[in-house]
Amino acid sequence: MPPAEQAPPRKILVTSALPYANGPIHLGHLVEYIQTDIWARFQRMRGHTCYYVCADDAHGTPIMLKAEDEGVTPEQLIERFGREHRRDFDGFLISFDNYHSTHSPENRHFSELIYARLKARGHIVRRTITQLYDPQKNMFLPDRFIRGTCPVCGAEAQYGDNCEACGSTYAPTDLIDPVSVVSGGQPEERESEQLFFKLGDFRDFLAQWLGGGHTQAEIANKQKELFAQELFEWDISRNAPYWGFEIPGEPGKYFYVWMDAPIGYLASFQNLCEREGLDFDQFMRPDSDCELCHFIGKDIARFHTLFWPAQLRGGGFRTPSAVWCHGFLTVSGQKMSKRHGTFITAETYLKHLAPEYLRYYFAAKLDDGIDDIDLNLDDFKARVNADLVGKLVNIASRCASFIGRYFDGRLSDSLPQPRMLEEFAEAGAAIAADYEKRRYGKAVRRIMALADRANQYVDAAKPWILIKDAGRRHEVRQICTQGLNLFRILAIYLKPVLPATAARAEAFLNLPPQQWRDAGKAMLAHAIADYQPLLTRIETKQIEAMIEDGKTQTPAAEPEEDPAGAQIGLDEFAKVDLRIARIVAAEAVDGADKLLRLRLDIGDSQRTVLAGIKSAYRPEELEGRLTVVVANLAPRRMKFGVSEGMLLAAGPGGADIFLLSPDQGATPGMRVK
Ligand code: MSP
Ligand code: ZN
Repeated sequence: MPPAEQAPPRKILVTSALPYANGPIHLGHLVEYIQTDIWARFQRMRGHTCYYVCADDAHGTPIMLKAEDEGVTPEQLIERFGREHRRDFDGFLISFDNYHSTHSPENRHFSELIYARLKARGHIVRRTITQLYDPQKNMFLPDRFIRGTCPVCGAEAQYGDNCEACGSTYAPTDLIDPVSVVSGGQPEERESEQLFFKLGDFRDFLAQWLGGGHTQAEIANKQKELFAQELFEWDISRNAPYWGFEIPGEPGKYFYVWMDAPIGYLASFQNLCEREGLDFDQFMRPDSDCELCHFIGKDIARFHTLFWPAQLRGGGFRTPSAVWCHGFLTVSGQKMSKRHGTFITAETYLKHLAPEYLRYYFAAKLDDGIDDIDLNLDDFKARVNADLVGKLVNIASRCASFIGRYFDGRLSDSLPQPRMLEEFAEAGAAIAADYEKRRYGKAVRRIMALADRANQYVDAAKPWILIKDAGRRHEVRQICTQGLNLFRILAIYLKPVLPATAARAEAFLNLPPQQWRDAGKAMLAHAIADYQPLLTRIETKQIEAMIEDGKTQTPAAEPEEDPAGAQIGLDEFAKVDLRIARIVAAEAVDGADKLLRLRLDIGDSQRTVLAGIKSAYRPEELEGRLTVVVANLAPRRMKFGVSEGMLLAAGPGGADIFLLSPDQGATPGMRVK
């Protein structure tokens, strides 16, 4: 046995980044959860203790505003996304030991504890700073909620923190003609006192940590830029209104979402420890001999390789053993886009395709670096069909059918080529080393090279010809026994990637759940069960249907209601007066970011309607067209005037809003029923 297997079992706590609770899980996210899950499953198969925890990141301004927009409480919003996220992760076979929320008592506890310790040790200072304030919404604006002209290159409509045109970074107060994205109004500068975490106090520790091989060298080097700053501090507080935890002793001030988000890892683990009677301190005390490994995207490296190690250190906990970054997913070389149907949510994918196809494809593409990875759908289909169906499943289906049909499901009691089996088992050490180092692409290539050998063996032995010769039938049994033994080893090696297929293989091979070390054992004189199809081919039409679905998809997270409660009777429906309307005039609304003011002709009268469709339509393209309006909606007073009705439109928002239009022949005022 290779020496690695004799080493004592490790105790590992592994995490993926906590997805924001204001949007659906999409294929980009899944790069990370699949990458982490493969690693966690691999460690468990090796006999190590490995807890994999995660949670929803449930705080911050975007969640607060989104809830407001939808007319629900933040609690309702995060509850709904929490439910959807769990469903999607289950669908992709992500084996979390616990999935929690940052809006939890455990997280409040640890956030307050770490803050109190940082404060007691003198690492927190107060500073008065100038920020942009929205006087209409009565709130300070996060950088992402301010747009204006870049002070460096003059590009318009840039975010408050950096310019997408020229790449400069700046303070939001430097923007020319800033506009609040929340109200459309002009923000003003206001001073307020905030709490800062003095990261400078941890310079030596961080330099050592960054130099210690705990993260990729490129990532570590990048962080050193910040080191050069004299005042190396991090603003950890936000003013009310804010959705998060109020800071003890600081009424009206809240922890910034990125302060309590990584602490959510501890909260989720603590929640697991309580439920299962595990020892939290064993993993988290400063001198712990357990491992703490975080998988994250490269966009959030700074939070995890500077702020988080310092928070842990200053808070009296152990620091991370590893923060492994991955790159971003593109689809056919492009950023994911709703218009092209390549913004594919987990939910949409799973309606059309099996999760293991994507798990396999990502595994084949992933390595230990931070380069972006591309999902090309033609390549996806070709690769999965060739490797999984053409190579892997092929060995099993061919051999199993002979054993079932001619030998009563019993394998032979010896192998024609025992040495080949040994070689397959010996290859496990290199494959394991690749998994361990997150070089999954390499591991997959090694496994597929073995699959090729196994297929070549069966092809050369030609059992389908021998079976016709009564005198050589026993050879067929031996050949197929050899083939199934080789297949079993491949199924073990692929089990971290393809857990469901491996389970189906275990079922038909009549084996208990296989561990890594089982690859060294042979199945002889063993009764197998009936063969069950393991995986089927991807068909082009499945992919096409998924893309179509992705284009037409409504916002993934519609409020879900109890289906019976959601139904209405005919009389209720009849109360809604839907009319054909002609848009006679359309104009932008001064100061409003999203609204158009429309004059509608509804046959017997005209109405003014304010519609939030500015992001999708130019006023001039609307004039003259027919659409559908709710004519008996009570007039609503809005900030920009009174709206006397509502247009019907579909789509997730932004550029993707689609007004309904009647067929030709309809005239203004006609009732829609
Ligand atoms: N809430 C923060 C993380 C807090 S961790 C204490 C966050 N959430 S996120 O939902 O935006 O992203 C979650 C993870 O998914 C991040 O690691 C992010 O890098 C990753 N990805 C999001 N989109 C991605 C792609 N398109 N491609 C690959 N990974 C991506 O950041
Ligand atoms: Zn610029």
